[in-house]
Amino acid sequence: MIRKGILLAGGTGSRLWPITRAISKQLLPLYNKPMVYYPLSVLMSAGIQDVLVINTPDEQALFKTLLGDGSQWGMRLVYAVQPRPEGIAQAIVIAADFLAGEGCCLILGDNVFYGEGLQGQLQRAEALPNGATVFAYRVAEPRAYGVVTFDASGPAVDIEEKPAHPKSNFAVTGLYFYDCGATKIVQTIQPSARGELEITTLNQRYLHDGTLHVEVLGRGSAWMDTGTPDDLLGAANFIHAIEHRQGLMVGCPEEWALRNGWINHDQLRSSADKLGKTTYSAYLRTLADEAHE
Ligand code: G1P
Repeated sequence: MIRKGILLAGGTGSRLWPITRAISKQLLPLYNKPMVYYPLSVLMSAGIQDVLVINTPDEQALFKTLLGDGSQWGMRLVYAVQPRPEGIAQAIVIAADFLAGEGCCLILGDNVFYGEGLQGQLQRAEALPNGATVFAYRVAEPRAYGVVTFDASGPAVDIEEKPAHPKSNFAVTGLYFYDCGATKIVQTIQPSARGELEITTLNQRYLHDGTLHVEVLGRGSAWMDTGTPDDLLGAANFIHAIEHRQGLMVGCPEEWALRNGWINHDQLRSSADKLGKTTYSAYLRTLADEAHE
């Protein structure tokens, strides 16, 4: 059972300059909430209450202002810094004390997932006693990602980081589950040509050991990139369309906290009160009223 989460929200966001010159990418609005709410909600939907948030030294204070210690959502949020953008796998090195020998779910602070099937897949990943799970998603342009290839009978046979000639269209998303062995493995990983401890290298180790599980997110789910202004706008429009049609929010931490029984409707109401008169707080009040009925 995985109980600990790592939310990696570092990086320079250079692909979005000048937007991200003065503010962290993961704090940018994605329609009606900060981007980081979406991956945080994914961790919460997996039942993970204990999360290490990793930021750049300059931006950590802003994340603390936004997310606090997590108690408003019945969670425990603690913080660490990644001084330089030296790779996703470095998050596990940084998290060693926090993990204290346990496995973890690692999610990137700019990854947005949507789809009903995801929760069941998260539960499957959590329930695995050992090994690692990655989530693959079919994309038209896989070159910018880790790419996983399957053999005809199903299992993954290969993972490559940003291949010039991808052997499949399945990108590895920024959501990973690892058993307690990952902490040791990352200590042996050498930086890649771009100077990073690649998460793909860690995944390759599990693949070679025969303990890498790949969950394919089907075409009924969405995994969105937020790397460029067009991606950002596209993701925001997607969230807007879903939320307006259904009247339900995507990536609302308060809602997951309530669903998980980590807060009660009075705590939800007090969260709403702290947000004044906004569409977000109105939504929380509706949830609180429904919970009370
Ligand atoms: C990173 C990983 C890549 C993965 C992607 C998901 O890419 O290296 O394997 O597919 O995240 O968002 P980067 O953000 O470093 O370009």
